[in-house]
Amino acid sequence: MRHSKIAGIGHHVPDNIITNEYLSTIMDTNNEWIVERTGIHERRWMNPETDTVANMAAKATRMALERAKLQATDIDFIVFATITPDYFFPGSGVLLQRELGLDGKIAALDIRNACSGFIYALSVADQFIKTGMYKTILVVGAEIQSTALDITTRGRNTAVIFGDGAGAVVLQPSDKPGILSTHLHSDGTFAEELYVKDPGSSRPHKERQPEQITDTSTFKVVMNGNQVFKHAVVRFMEVIQEALDANKLTKEDINLLVPHQANLRISQYIQEKLALTGDQVYNNIMRYGNTTAASIPIALSEAWAEGKIKENDLICLAAFGSGFTWASALIRW
Ligand code: UT7
Repeated sequence: MRHSKIAGIGHHVPDNIITNEYLSTIMDTNNEWIVERTGIHERRWMNPETDTVANMAAKATRMALERAKLQATDIDFIVFATITPDYFFPGSGVLLQRELGLDGKIAALDIRNACSGFIYALSVADQFIKTGMYKTILVVGAEIQSTALDITTRGRNTAVIFGDGAGAVVLQPSDKPGILSTHLHSDGTFAEELYVKDPGSSRPHKERQPEQITDTSTFKVVMNGNQVFKHAVVRFMEVIQEALDANKLTKEDINLLVPHQANLRISQYIQEKLALTGDQVYNNIMRYGNTTAASIPIALSEAWAEGKIKENDLICLAAFGSGFTWASALIRW
Protein backbone atom coordinates (compact mmCIF):
# COMPACT_ATOMS: atom_id res chain seq x y z
CA MET A 1 0.00 0.00 0.00
CA ARG A 2 1.11 3.52 -0.76
CA HIS A 3 1.67 5.85 2.23
CA SER A 4 2.77 9.44 2.61
CA LYS A 5 5.75 10.91 4.42
CA ILE A 6 6.99 14.39 5.22
CA ALA A 7 9.91 15.10 2.87
CA GLY A 8 10.65 18.63 4.09
CA ILE A 9 9.39 21.24 6.51
CA GLY A 10 9.89 25.01 6.86
CA HIS A 11 8.50 28.12 8.49
CA HIS A 12 8.59 31.89 8.42
CA VAL A 13 7.54 34.52 10.97
CA PRO A 14 7.44 38.33 10.56
CA ASP A 15 10.41 40.34 11.92
CA ASN A 16 8.12 42.59 13.95
CA ILE A 17 8.33 41.45 17.61
CA ILE A 18 5.45 42.56 19.86
CA THR A 19 6.35 42.25 23.54
CA ASN A 20 4.01 42.03 26.50
CA GLU A 21 5.49 45.32 27.67
CA TYR A 22 4.44 47.00 24.42
CA LEU A 23 0.88 45.65 24.74
CA SER A 24 0.78 47.03 28.30
CA THR A 25 1.27 50.51 26.84
CA ILE A 26 -1.76 50.27 24.52
CA MET A 27 -4.28 48.41 26.73
CA ASP A 28 -4.94 47.52 30.34
CA THR A 29 -2.80 44.40 30.67
CA ASN A 30 0.59 43.45 32.07
CA ASN A 31 3.45 41.03 31.55
CA GLU A 32 2.71 39.02 34.72
CA TRP A 33 -0.92 38.32 33.75
CA ILE A 34 -0.02 37.30 30.19
CA VAL A 35 2.88 35.03 31.20
CA GLU A 36 0.99 33.41 34.07
CA ARG A 37 -2.27 32.77 32.14
CA THR A 38 -0.84 31.95 28.70
CA GLY A 39 2.95 31.44 28.84
CA ILE A 40 3.41 34.02 26.07
CA HIS A 41 6.33 36.49 26.31
CA GLU A 42 6.18 37.91 22.80
CA ARG A 43 4.56 37.32 19.42
CA ARG A 44 5.17 38.43 15.82
CA TRP A 45 2.77 40.76 14.04
CA MET A 46 2.92 41.49 10.34
CA ASN A 47 4.55 44.52 8.80
CA PRO A 48 2.07 45.84 6.21
CA GLU A 49 5.00 46.99 4.03
CA THR A 50 6.39 43.48 3.63
CA ASP A 51 4.11 40.69 4.87
CA THR A 52 1.08 38.94 3.39
CA VAL A 53 -0.28 35.51 4.25
CA ALA A 54 0.73 34.25 0.81
CA ASN A 55 4.27 35.64 0.82
CA MET A 56 4.98 34.36 4.33
CA ALA A 57 3.69 30.98 3.15
CA ALA A 58 6.02 31.20 0.13
CA LYS A 59 9.02 31.81 2.41
CA ALA A 60 8.05 28.81 4.58
CA THR A 61 7.59 26.75 1.42
CA ARG A 62 11.04 27.64 0.07
CA MET A 63 12.61 26.45 3.34
CA ALA A 64 10.62 23.20 3.20
CA LEU A 65 11.57 22.63 -0.46
CA GLU A 66 15.26 23.29 0.23
CA ARG A 67 15.27 20.83 3.15
CA ALA A 68 13.50 18.26 0.95
CA LYS A 69 15.97 18.97 -1.90
CA LEU A 70 13.06 19.70 -4.24
CA GLN A 71 12.07 22.53 -6.58
CA ALA A 72 8.78 24.46 -6.59
CA THR A 73 8.06 22.87 -9.99
CA ASP A 74 7.98 19.45 -8.26
CA ILE A 75 4.80 20.46 -6.36
CA ASP A 76 1.67 19.09 -7.99
CA PHE A 77 -1.00 20.23 -5.48
CA ILE A 78 -1.34 22.89 -2.76
CA VAL A 79 -3.50 22.50 0.35
CA PHE A 80 -3.57 25.80 2.22
CA ALA A 81 -5.00 26.10 5.75
CA THR A 82 -5.86 29.60 6.92
CA ILE A 83 -8.76 31.49 8.48
CA THR A 84 -7.15 34.82 7.65
CA PRO A 85 -6.73 34.79 3.85
CA ASP A 86 -5.34 37.89 2.18
CA TYR A 87 -8.70 38.47 0.50
CA PHE A 88 -12.29 37.59 1.50
CA PHE A 89 -12.03 35.55 -1.69
CA PRO A 90 -10.24 33.98 -3.47
CA GLY A 91 -8.35 31.99 -0.84
CA SER A 92 -4.63 32.31 -0.31
CA GLY A 93 -3.89 28.96 -2.03
CA VAL A 94 -3.99 30.53 -5.49
CA LEU A 95 -1.97 33.53 -4.28
CA LEU A 96 0.73 31.20 -2.97
CA GLN A 97 0.64 29.32 -6.26
CA ARG A 98 1.28 32.62 -8.05
CA GLU A 99 4.10 33.56 -5.63
CA LEU A 100 5.76 30.23 -6.43
CA GLY A 101 5.45 30.74 -10.18
CA LEU A 102 3.09 27.77 -10.50
CA ASP A 103 0.06 29.75 -11.71
CA GLY A 104 -2.14 27.78 -14.06
CA LYS A 105 -0.02 24.63 -13.65
CA ILE A 106 -1.47 22.90 -10.56
CA ALA A 107 -4.58 22.95 -8.34
CA ALA A 108 -4.82 24.80 -5.01
CA LEU A 109 -7.31 24.02 -2.24
CA ASP A 110 -8.13 26.16 0.81
CA ILE A 111 -9.05 24.76 4.25
CA ARG A 112 -10.81 26.89 6.91
CA ASN A 113 -10.62 24.82 10.07
CA ALA A 114 -8.89 27.34 12.31
CA CYS A 115 -6.43 25.89 14.83
CA SER A 116 -7.08 22.35 13.54
CA GLY A 117 -6.62 23.53 9.95
CA PHE A 118 -3.10 22.22 9.47
CA ILE A 119 -4.00 18.69 10.59
CA TYR A 120 -7.13 18.75 8.41
CA ALA A 121 -4.95 19.88 5.48
CA LEU A 122 -2.39 17.16 6.21
CA SER A 123 -5.18 14.59 6.30
CA VAL A 124 -6.57 15.73 2.93
CA ALA A 125 -3.10 15.64 1.37
CA ASP A 126 -2.45 12.18 2.86
CA GLN A 127 -5.58 10.82 1.13
CA PHE A 128 -4.53 12.27 -2.25
CA ILE A 129 -1.08 10.68 -1.94
CA LYS A 130 -2.60 7.32 -0.94
CA THR A 131 -4.90 7.26 -3.98
CA GLY A 132 -1.96 8.10 -6.22
CA MET A 133 -3.60 11.23 -7.58
CA TYR A 134 -0.70 13.51 -6.56
CA LYS A 135 2.95 12.83 -5.73
CA THR A 136 4.31 16.01 -4.17
CA ILE A 137 1.83 18.01 -2.13
CA LEU A 138 2.55 21.28 -0.40
CA VAL A 139 0.62 21.58 2.88
CA VAL A 140 0.60 25.03 4.43
CA GLY A 141 -0.72 26.69 7.57
CA ALA A 142 -0.38 30.48 7.55
CA GLU A 143 -2.12 33.34 9.32
CA ILE A 144 -2.14 37.10 9.76
CA GLN A 145 -4.39 37.50 12.78
CA SER A 146 -3.02 40.73 14.19
CA THR A 147 -5.19 42.81 11.84
CA ALA A 148 -8.38 41.10 13.13
CA LEU A 149 -7.62 41.75 16.80
CA ASP A 150 -9.29 44.39 18.93
CA ILE A 151 -6.09 45.93 20.33
CA THR A 152 -7.86 47.86 23.06
CA THR A 153 -8.69 46.84 26.64
CA ARG A 154 -12.05 45.54 25.37
CA GLY A 155 -10.23 42.90 23.29
CA ARG A 156 -7.40 42.12 25.70
CA ASN A 157 -8.33 38.45 26.21
CA THR A 158 -7.54 37.80 22.51
CA ALA A 159 -5.18 40.66 21.62
CA VAL A 160 -2.44 39.29 23.86
CA ILE A 161 -2.76 35.73 22.56
CA PHE A 162 -2.72 35.67 18.78
CA GLY A 163 0.24 36.06 16.45
CA ASP A 164 1.18 35.84 12.77
CA GLY A 165 3.34 33.34 10.90
CA ALA A 166 3.52 30.50 8.40
CA GLY A 167 4.63 26.87 8.25
CA ALA A 168 4.78 24.41 5.37
CA VAL A 169 5.47 20.73 4.76
CA VAL A 170 6.05 18.81 1.55
CA LEU A 171 4.37 15.39 1.45
CA GLN A 172 5.54 12.61 -0.85
CA PRO A 173 4.71 8.91 -1.33
CA SER A 174 6.49 6.26 0.70
CA ASP A 175 6.41 2.45 0.88
CA LYS A 176 6.01 2.59 4.64
CA PRO A 177 4.25 5.26 6.73
CA GLY A 178 5.00 8.16 7.27
CA ILE A 179 1.68 9.38 8.37
CA LEU A 180 0.18 6.50 10.35
CA SER A 181 -3.27 8.06 10.73
CA THR A 182 -5.22 11.29 11.07
CA HIS A 183 -8.36 11.84 13.17
CA LEU A 184 -10.72 14.75 12.54
CA HIS A 185 -13.68 16.07 14.56
CA SER A 186 -15.96 19.07 14.70
CA ASP A 187 -18.96 20.35 16.67
CA GLY A 188 -20.77 23.43 15.36
CA THR A 189 -22.77 23.79 18.59
CA PHE A 190 -19.95 26.01 19.77
CA ALA A 191 -19.33 28.05 16.60
CA GLU A 192 -19.80 31.41 18.31
CA GLU A 193 -17.52 30.66 21.28
CA LEU A 194 -14.52 31.69 19.16
CA TYR A 195 -15.26 33.55 15.94
CA VAL A 196 -15.10 36.62 13.76
CA LYS A 197 -18.60 37.55 12.59
CA ASP A 198 -17.87 39.82 9.66
CA PRO A 199 -17.62 40.16 6.74
CA GLY A 200 -20.36 37.52 7.04
CA SER A 201 -22.71 37.09 4.10
CA SER A 202 -25.95 36.39 6.03
CA ARG A 203 -26.64 40.05 6.80
CA PRO A 204 -29.19 42.45 5.37
CA HIS A 205 -27.80 44.22 2.34
CA LYS A 206 -27.68 47.61 4.02
CA GLU A 207 -25.61 46.27 6.93
CA ARG A 208 -22.97 45.17 4.45
CA GLN A 209 -22.45 48.57 2.87
CA PRO A 210 -19.12 49.96 4.14
CA GLU A 211 -20.53 53.48 4.51
CA GLN A 212 -23.32 52.14 6.80
CA ILE A 213 -20.98 50.38 9.21
CA THR A 214 -20.43 52.40 12.35
CA ASP A 215 -19.66 49.55 14.78
CA THR A 216 -16.62 47.61 13.48
CA SER A 217 -16.35 45.35 16.54
CA THR A 218 -18.03 42.51 14.61
CA PHE A 219 -14.92 42.36 12.41
CA LYS A 220 -12.74 41.44 15.40
CA VAL A 221 -11.98 38.11 17.08
CA VAL A 222 -14.38 37.23 19.91
CA MET A 223 -13.56 34.38 22.30
CA ASN A 224 -15.17 32.93 25.38
CA GLY A 225 -11.79 31.90 26.76
CA ASN A 226 -13.00 29.84 29.72
CA GLN A 227 -15.39 27.80 27.59
CA VAL A 228 -12.76 27.17 24.90
CA PHE A 229 -10.19 26.19 27.52
CA LYS A 230 -12.52 23.66 29.20
CA HIS A 231 -13.37 21.92 25.93
CA ALA A 232 -9.77 22.06 24.69
CA VAL A 233 -8.27 20.07 27.55
CA VAL A 234 -10.87 17.30 27.15
CA ARG A 235 -10.75 17.08 23.34
CA PHE A 236 -6.95 17.20 23.14
CA MET A 237 -6.71 14.15 25.39
CA GLU A 238 -9.51 12.28 23.59
CA VAL A 239 -8.11 12.77 20.11
CA ILE A 240 -4.56 11.84 21.11
CA GLN A 241 -5.86 8.65 22.76
CA GLU A 242 -7.96 7.91 19.66
CA ALA A 243 -4.83 8.11 17.48
CA LEU A 244 -2.84 5.86 19.81
CA ASP A 245 -5.66 3.28 20.02
CA ALA A 246 -6.11 3.23 16.23
CA ASN A 247 -2.45 2.28 15.83
CA LYS A 248 -2.27 -0.07 18.85
CA LEU A 249 0.26 2.22 20.45
CA THR A 250 0.45 3.72 23.93
CA LYS A 251 1.50 7.09 25.31
CA GLU A 252 4.85 5.52 26.20
CA ASP A 253 5.53 5.15 22.47
CA ILE A 254 5.37 8.92 21.79
CA ASN A 255 8.79 10.48 21.22
CA LEU A 256 7.56 14.02 20.62
CA LEU A 257 4.16 15.64 21.02
CA VAL A 258 3.70 18.85 19.01
CA PRO A 259 0.42 20.34 20.24
CA HIS A 260 -1.26 23.35 18.69
CA GLN A 261 0.14 26.31 20.62
CA ALA A 262 -3.08 27.64 22.19
CA ASN A 263 -1.96 28.24 25.74
CA LEU A 264 1.10 26.90 27.59
CA ARG A 265 -1.19 25.77 30.42
CA ILE A 266 -3.07 23.52 27.97
CA SER A 267 0.20 21.97 26.73
CA GLN A 268 1.37 21.45 30.31
CA TYR A 269 -1.94 19.83 31.27
CA ILE A 270 -1.64 17.34 28.37
CA GLN A 271 2.01 16.68 29.21
CA GLU A 272 1.07 15.84 32.78
CA LYS A 273 -1.87 13.62 31.78
CA LEU A 274 0.29 11.69 29.33
CA ALA A 275 3.17 11.57 31.83
CA LEU A 276 5.56 13.00 29.22
CA THR A 277 8.76 14.87 30.11
CA GLY A 278 9.35 18.48 29.12
CA ASP A 279 11.65 17.24 26.32
CA GLN A 280 8.82 15.15 24.85
CA VAL A 281 6.51 18.13 24.27
CA TYR A 282 7.56 20.92 21.94
CA ASN A 283 6.33 24.42 22.83
CA ASN A 284 7.23 27.76 21.25
CA ILE A 285 4.14 29.76 22.26
CA MET A 286 6.47 31.82 24.48
CA ARG A 287 7.95 33.41 21.35
CA TYR A 288 5.11 33.38 18.82
CA GLY A 289 1.80 33.31 20.72
CA ASN A 290 -1.05 31.37 19.14
CA THR A 291 -0.65 31.37 15.36
CA THR A 292 -3.75 29.19 14.70
CA ALA A 293 -3.23 27.01 11.57
CA ALA A 294 0.45 27.97 11.43
CA SER A 295 1.32 26.92 14.97
CA ILE A 296 1.90 23.19 14.42
CA PRO A 297 4.03 23.45 11.25
CA ILE A 298 6.11 26.29 12.77
CA ALA A 299 6.69 24.22 15.91
CA LEU A 300 7.43 21.07 13.91
CA SER A 301 9.91 22.95 11.74
CA GLU A 302 11.72 24.42 14.75
CA ALA A 303 11.74 21.07 16.60
CA TRP A 304 13.24 19.40 13.52
CA ALA A 305 15.88 22.15 13.09
CA GLU A 306 16.84 21.81 16.78
CA GLY A 307 17.47 18.07 16.28
CA LYS A 308 14.53 17.02 18.47
CA ILE A 309 13.11 14.75 15.75
CA LYS A 310 15.06 11.68 14.68
CA GLU A 311 14.40 9.04 12.07
CA ASN A 312 11.82 6.49 13.19
CA ASP A 313 10.56 8.69 16.04
CA LEU A 314 6.83 8.65 16.74
CA ILE A 315 5.52 12.21 16.46
CA CYS A 316 2.04 13.13 17.65
CA LEU A 317 0.29 16.28 16.42
CA ALA A 318 -2.91 17.47 18.11
CA ALA A 319 -5.08 20.56 17.84
CA PHE A 320 -8.28 22.16 19.10
CA GLY A 321 -9.92 25.42 18.13
CA SER A 322 -12.73 27.46 16.60
CA GLY A 323 -15.69 25.50 15.30
CA PHE A 324 -15.16 23.74 17.57
CA THR A 325 -12.81 21.53 15.57
CA TRP A 326 -10.18 19.16 16.89
CA ALA A 327 -7.79 16.69 15.29
CA SER A 328 -4.68 14.55 15.70
CA ALA A 329 -2.07 12.86 13.53
CA LEU A 330 0.52 10.21 14.31
CA ILE A 331 3.66 10.25 12.19
CA ARG A 332 6.54 7.76 12.05
CA TRP A 333 9.40 10.06 11.01
O1 UT7 B 1 -6.38 28.34 19.63
C1 UT7 B 1 -7.74 28.20 19.82
C2 UT7 B 1 -8.03 27.71 21.14
N1 UT7 B 1 -7.88 28.76 22.10
C3 UT7 B 1 -7.69 28.43 23.35
O2 UT7 B 1 -7.55 27.27 23.65
C4 UT7 B 1 -7.70 29.54 24.38
C5 UT7 B 1 -8.34 29.02 25.63
N2 UT7 B 1 -8.51 30.00 26.66
C6 UT7 B 1 -7.48 30.60 27.31
O3 UT7 B 1 -6.33 30.43 26.95
C7 UT7 B 1 -7.79 31.43 28.52
O4 UT7 B 1 -9.16 31.34 28.81
C8 UT7 B 1 -7.40 32.95 28.39
C9 UT7 B 1 -5.90 33.09 28.37
C10 UT7 B 1 -8.02 33.54 27.14
C11 UT7 B 1 -7.94 33.72 29.57
O5 UT7 B 1 -7.41 33.20 30.77
P1 UT7 B 1 -8.34 32.87 31.99
O6 UT7 B 1 -7.48 32.39 33.06
O7 UT7 B 1 -9.43 31.96 31.50
O8 UT7 B 1 -8.91 34.29 32.38
P2 UT7 B 1 -10.42 34.79 32.40
O9 UT7 B 1 -10.97 34.94 31.03
O10 UT7 B 1 -11.19 33.97 33.38
O11 UT7 B 1 -10.26 36.24 33.01
C12 UT7 B 1 -9.78 36.45 34.34
C13 UT7 B 1 -9.61 37.94 34.57
C14 UT7 B 1 -10.83 38.75 34.17
O12 UT7 B 1 -10.96 39.82 35.09
P3 UT7 B 1 -12.02 39.72 36.32
O13 UT7 B 1 -13.35 39.53 35.69
O14 UT7 B 1 -11.57 38.53 37.13
O15 UT7 B 1 -11.84 41.02 37.02
C15 UT7 B 1 -10.47 39.33 32.83
O16 UT7 B 1 -11.11 40.55 32.55
O17 UT7 B 1 -8.53 38.42 33.77
C16 UT7 B 1 -8.98 39.56 33.02
N3 UT7 B 1 -8.23 39.60 31.77
C17 UT7 B 1 -7.04 40.23 31.67
N4 UT7 B 1 -6.30 40.91 32.56
C18 UT7 B 1 -5.14 41.41 32.11
C19 UT7 B 1 -8.55 39.05 30.58
N5 UT7 B 1 -7.58 39.30 29.68
C20 UT7 B 1 -6.65 40.04 30.33
C21 UT7 B 1 -5.41 40.59 29.95
N6 UT7 B 1 -4.69 41.26 30.86
N7 UT7 B 1 -4.92 40.45 28.70
